[in-house]
Amino acid sequence: MARITAGVATSHVPAMGLAVDNDRTADDYWRPVFAGYEWTRAWIAQTMPDVIVLVYNDHASNFSLDLIPTFAIGCADEFAPADEGFGPRPVPAVPGHPDLAWHIAESAILDEFDVTIANKLEVDHGLTVPLSLIFGRTERWPVRVVPIAVNVIQYPPPTSNRCFMLGEAIARAVGTFPEDLNVQVWGTGGMSHQLHGARAGLINSEFDLAFLDRLVTDPASLRKMPHLELLREAGTEGIEMVMWLIMRGALGDNVLERHRLYHVPASNTAVGHIVLEPAH
Ligand SMILES: [Fe+2]
Repeated sequence: MARITAGVATSHVPAMGLAVDNDRTADDYWRPVFAGYEWTRAWIAQTMPDVIVLVYNDHASNFSLDLIPTFAIGCADEFAPADEGFGPRPVPAVPGHPDLAWHIAESAILDEFDVTIANKLEVDHGLTVPLSLIFGRTERWPVRVVPIAVNVIQYPPPTSNRCFMLGEAIARAVGTFPEDLNVQVWGTGGMSHQLHGARAGLINSEFDLAFLDRLVTDPASLRKMPHLELLREAGTEGIEMVMWLIMRGALGDNVLERHRLYHVPASNTAVGHIVLEPAH
């Protein structure tokens, strides 16, 4: 049977992708941030997953305001990097796992969790930057990916609790997939940041650090966090953190925290990264 062996969360700051693409990760500005991923890079080399269920949001790259699925699952053989206005990132296409993706879609929908099936999907920095942070520059990604795209761009995004429930549904699906696969679930986005309006530049470290703690020890309290609290405390783009709850929901009640990074700022965002393993 397939099994979920770990959960990873990380910010997906576009400028961090640029730093990787342009070999700037050792610059004075970037070195402290990327140093926080070295533990993870060594760890994942030892425990390389076959598949990553990668929860991210599309930033009006593949989808647009014409079509806004709340949750979409990528079932294609591979996913090309999207052109976000400056040409696609110079990273390889992301190989999919259609069998597992269709299984998750079927399991989730029969579990009364209606996800949109995407048989063609271009992936933007929300998905490719996390891969670059952990696998670096490469000619070929070492894992296959099942993308789960979440709407956090246009109100109303899904609730915290609904995201947590999707993680639980993904765990049930993976647990009934007959192939012996090592599966990780990643959640991306955040942490606190606001790109527009009077509060542009907002970073709330106190909130972020408490969120990381609660993610580990008290996830039930995060299920109840309303959008308004996320907006107020973490800024308009901080709503991306609901995607971390999908990852957390897939890991079960108790987890072991293996690694954590919190760094301010990168670009105009607080960078958070955490590695969790289910504790049975
Ligand atoms: Fe984002």
